[in-house]
Amino acid sequence: MKAVVAGASGGIGQPLSLLLKACPLVDKLALYDVVNTPGVTADLSHISSIAQIEGYLPADDGMKKALTGADIVVIPAGIPRKPGMTRDDLFKINAGIVQGLVQGCAEHCPDAYILVISNPVNSTVPIAAEVLKKAGKFNAKKLFGVTTLDVVRSETFVQSITGERDPSKTVIPVIGGHSGETIVPLFSQAKPAVKIPEDKLDALVNRVQFGGDEVVKAKDGAGSATLSMAYAGYRFAEKVMKAAKGESGIIEPTFMYLPGVPGGDEIAKATGCEYFSVPVELGKEGALKATNIVKDANDYEKKLLEKCYEGLKGNISKGIDFVANPP
Ligand code: NAD
Ligand code: LMR
Repeated sequence: MKAVVAGASGGIGQPLSLLLKACPLVDKLALYDVVNTPGVTADLSHISSIAQIEGYLPADDGMKKALTGADIVVIPAGIPRKPGMTRDDLFKINAGIVQGLVQGCAEHCPDAYILVISNPVNSTVPIAAEVLKKAGKFNAKKLFGVTTLDVVRSETFVQSITGERDPSKTVIPVIGGHSGETIVPLFSQAKPAVKIPEDKLDALVNRVQFGGDEVVKAKDGAGSATLSMAYAGYRFAEKVMKAAKGESGIIEPTFMYLPGVPGGDEIAKATGCEYFSVPVELGKEGALKATNIVKDANDYEKKLLEKCYEGLKGNISKGIDFVANPP
């Protein structure tokens, strides 16, 4: 298994690369960034794990060398938010960065699983899909928007109510997109079931939807979530790799192009959104099946979903339009 991190020298990229370097499923790890990859690579190369590590800068065909032969490419490249910014404010810069990197994937590793972390995910995933479509290399089953941090936050924040010792043991589907009101945690579908007092539900949902702001505010201009994101990104990447190696029964929410995934059509029809995060079963060839959990939402969650659809549609078309009509 060859894994690539694109944006490897950044706040997310470094700890994510560390986790991948330590992962026994990874045989080769290539780090790519526009700065500092030699240093990060030298540092990680002293770790006595299986993965052979290589680092590249853009010079001397660095992107091509990093991506060639990749089985999985994780993309945390791009600028993060500062206080007062929305994720959509990042579009101007990050849209082009993701476009360029995914173009590289289309050319050098068209069969790789591509995991997009760069914000705004609601738009960067449609950008990635359009780039791959244009290149004739689009496989919807292998393109994932990483929304795992929203799942991780839900598990963590509900612990104050459940009192569970290990919060990761509570499975909570978080669906929709990855920004504010497009993030919809379905606490009614938690396993094991969770009883949330009515007077605590609004605050809990709001904290999941705006958890990113909490970190942006606390970092006070020094960026957004990096360590929790590296954990979440690794957790999702590890599941993709385990499924690729034949482990069955792995289901995780992720933001995908639904018409290209078995079971996705009916969800796209129900939501009016072609891109949407739902729990997806993973297999050797990527997504095996999207679960229509939308229909199980209770009345409270249905209201949240109506707001989600509204916001998400605009974000999706903005991404599609960026590739169709370049600025
Ligand atoms: P950062 O600025 O610390 O790191 C970004 C890295 O990308 C830098 O090292 C930079 O040199 C690199 N980069 C820029 N252009 C590049 C290119 N063309 N090719 C390769 N590398 C390039 O930022 P960060 O805190 O690591 O965040 C990265 C992105 O992840 C941001 O857009 C942020 O909003 C997003 N993010 C997403 C989630 C999520 O849940 N999906 C969570 C947290 C952050
Ligand atoms: C998050 O949810 O933490 C990320 O999307 C980063 C951000 O901008 O909030």
